[in-house]
Amino acid sequence: MASIVSIVTLSNILLILLLSSAAANAQLSANFYATSCPNLQTIVRNSMAQAVNRERRIGASILRLFFHDCFVNGCDASILLDDTATFTGEKNAAPNRNSARGFEVIDTIKSNVETACNATVSCADILALATRDGVVLLGGPSWQVPLGRRDARTASQSAANSQIPSPFANLATLISSFAAKGLNARDLTVLSGGHTIGLARCATFRNRIYNDTNIDPNFAATRRARCPASGGDNNLAPLDSVPSARFDNNYYRDLVAQRGLLHSDQELFNGGSQDALVRTYSNDLATFLADFAAAMVRMGNISPLTGTSGEIRRNCRVVN
Ligand code: HEM
Ligand SMILES: *[C@@H]1O[C@H](CO)[C@@H](O)[C@H](O)[C@H]1NC(C)=O
Ligand SMILES: *[C@@H]1O[C@H](CO)[C@@H](O)[C@H](O)[C@H]1NC(C)=O
Repeated sequence: MASIVSIVTLSNILLILLLSSAAANAQLSANFYATSCPNLQTIVRNSMAQAVNRERRIGASILRLFFHDCFVNGCDASILLDDTATFTGEKNAAPNRNSARGFEVIDTIKSNVETACNATVSCADILALATRDGVVLLGGPSWQVPLGRRDARTASQSAANSQIPSPFANLATLISSFAAKGLNARDLTVLSGGHTIGLARCATFRNRIYNDTNIDPNFAATRRARCPASGGDNNLAPLDSVPSARFDNNYYRDLVAQRGLLHSDQELFNGGSQDALVRTYSNDLATFLADFAAAMVRMGNISPLTGTSGEIRRNCRVVN
């Protein structure tokens, strides 16, 4: 009898441990700063509105920063750390060097947030909120941003070089790099719709416009005019062929018309598993916007630091 009681007790303890570890995995919550920084969302939104007014592209650049942050060891603001004589971070990894931008905007928002709520809000959460607000300001969907991320004390240039997908990748490789982050092929296809806004450098699409065969010839010729076969690496072209800088579903219409700018974009509509979903999004703006918002929450949940892990950085560019 005594042993049955202790088995029951033991299994209750195990159950409690199991439940509390499940709770520890659902750590982020939209009202995390409700009492510690009640004006946070207003401060970030106003700062982003000013930044987007100054330059519309900044909404795109911040969205890309968040993607590159989340994909390398989780959404922990590691991408914001500056290189120093003794520290090598992610900013100069190949996918970020000469193209990741928006750091000054994050600095401004952080300083506005510190004025209102000193040493309380992480840079990782500021980046997550600024990303959502940038998308909304460009005409995209809104979503509630789960909060409570903390900031990394480290960064990894080698992970940034190997884990951020390449614009030269094929569909199978793209699917597996998203799978490595707990995201599926549908997430890949809907999150790639982020390319409805923003610009890319010639070096990232040259091979496609000169060598790919699954490309609209008029589109290729137009893009070649500003992206020579050699030189002009940093010349910019819009990722979406209708350069409205509006967050819409034209990116998917482009793919159906073989006007994807990056090789990786066109891989989503090239006779493979994602063709049907691309067609759906090309015809159905509302479904794209709703699916994009939901997938952004999933991307924002990649391996956050919570509880007492990491820190609340004072300056987003350096560890405390
Ligand atoms: C699927 C794999 C992806 C690949 C291979 C890829 C690749 C690229 C490349 C090569 C550029 C241009 C960079 C340069 O000029 O050097 C770019 C820009 C951009 N990417 Fe992606 N990307 C991917 C997914 C995503 C996702 C998931 C998002 C967001 C949800 C995103 C958002 C953006 C944005 C907004 C820009 C424009 C940034 C600006 O104008 O400053 N990308 N991407
Ligand atoms: C803000 O917090 C930091 C870290 O706790 C502290 O060193 C600093 O003095 C505080 N600044 C103000 C203005 O309260
Ligand atoms: C086209 O492909 C060939 C063979 O792979 C390569 O040598 C060449 O550099 C490519 N051209 C451009 C403009 O990328």
